[in-house]
Amino acid sequence: MHTTLPRRFYADPAFYRAELERFYFQRWICAGRADHIPEAGDYFTRTLGDESVIVTRDRAGAIHALFNVCRHRGTRLCEQAEGHFVERIQCPYHTWTYDLEGRLIAAPHMPPGFRKDDYPLHRAGCDVWDGHIFVYLGPAAPALPALPASPAPSGVPVLPALRDQLADLPTRFAPWEMGDLRLGRRIVYDVKANWKLVVLNYNECLHCPNLHPALNKLHHYLDAENVAPTACYCGGAMGFRDGVETMSMDGKRRREYLPGLNEAQRRQVSYFAVYPNLLLSLHPDYMMTHTLWPRAHDRSEIICEWHFHPSELARPDFDADDVVEFWDLTNRQDWWISEQSQAGISSRMYEPGPYSEREELLWSFDDIVRREAERHL
Ligand code: FES
Ligand SMILES: [Fe+2]
Repeated sequence: MHTTLPRRFYADPAFYRAELERFYFQRWICAGRADHIPEAGDYFTRTLGDESVIVTRDRAGAIHALFNVCRHRGTRLCEQAEGHFVERIQCPYHTWTYDLEGRLIAAPHMPPGFRKDDYPLHRAGCDVWDGHIFVYLGPAAPALPALPASPAPSGVPVLPALRDQLADLPTRFAPWEMGDLRLGRRIVYDVKANWKLVVLNYNECLHCPNLHPALNKLHHYLDAENVAPTACYCGGAMGFRDGVETMSMDGKRRREYLPGLNEAQRRQVSYFAVYPNLLLSLHPDYMMTHTLWPRAHDRSEIICEWHFHPSELARPDFDADDVVEFWDLTNRQDWWISEQSQAGISSRMYEPGPYSEREELLWSFDDIVRREAERHL
């Protein structure tokens, strides 16, 4: 019988730090959405462990992820969560100044022979899948002026391709035309639970009748059609109960169907955990995303966003309250039980418990986590 993971996977700060290295710094992680930074100079920052990255758009429209570390004396350049650079990024310490691609363009008082070209901002890998920006913060990230396709010097790991990590997901979710959708609402949560408990909770609905009375009126909790789990994701689709058309407070759909969906896709929600940190929930009329930002072995920040078709957002009577209220309620129920899981697992009396036959997706995720840990022993 498959069992849950040992206590140290959730309750040990040293294990947590090692896991960040192997799980988050050796994979592409979902940073946010391209429509968060529509104009040149718009930016947002993301932090993970000791790393901070600035995601910004240059004048040609290209998106870059730049390490938030000045090349002079290392100072963090930007402490805001989001904002707009007017043409350049300037260090608050001694005003070294970089362009939006990270090139150093001004460095006062440097001696003759100093070459600005030698000190661009360090670049993280950055790529976009259908509007989702992914960054790669690991050691293989290329520095300017090298491009990901250039041959790496021997001994330097080559940046893996985002497409390879995502496997068949771009094809699978093409009908939702996610790149066209735009942000309607965002809520950021601080959850006192290990990030993996949030992933596990997302991947099963056995708790739905007990914890989510409102959700349980819309889906039947045993009605999930899961796809075979892979190293990149696990998930499946859930149909609606009779008369229900989307996930909202009353099950009513107040927006048009997303334009690319067929009949079957209009009658279900796809719930996929894309490792390590994106929970993607595709509804007939909107997309919900959660990105997980581990903060400690027992704490995670979670950014939840609701994205809609621009033609809906443009309507004078557009209103997202029906879905935001529904999912905010559901989120809080999930965060509460994840915190209770963390609290119980932290006890010295916790020992791995047996999974039921309906928790196979959870075990598939645990198995990846466990194998990663063993590989790096
Ligand atoms: S540390 Fe940034 S300019 Fe000196
Ligand atoms: Fe739940």
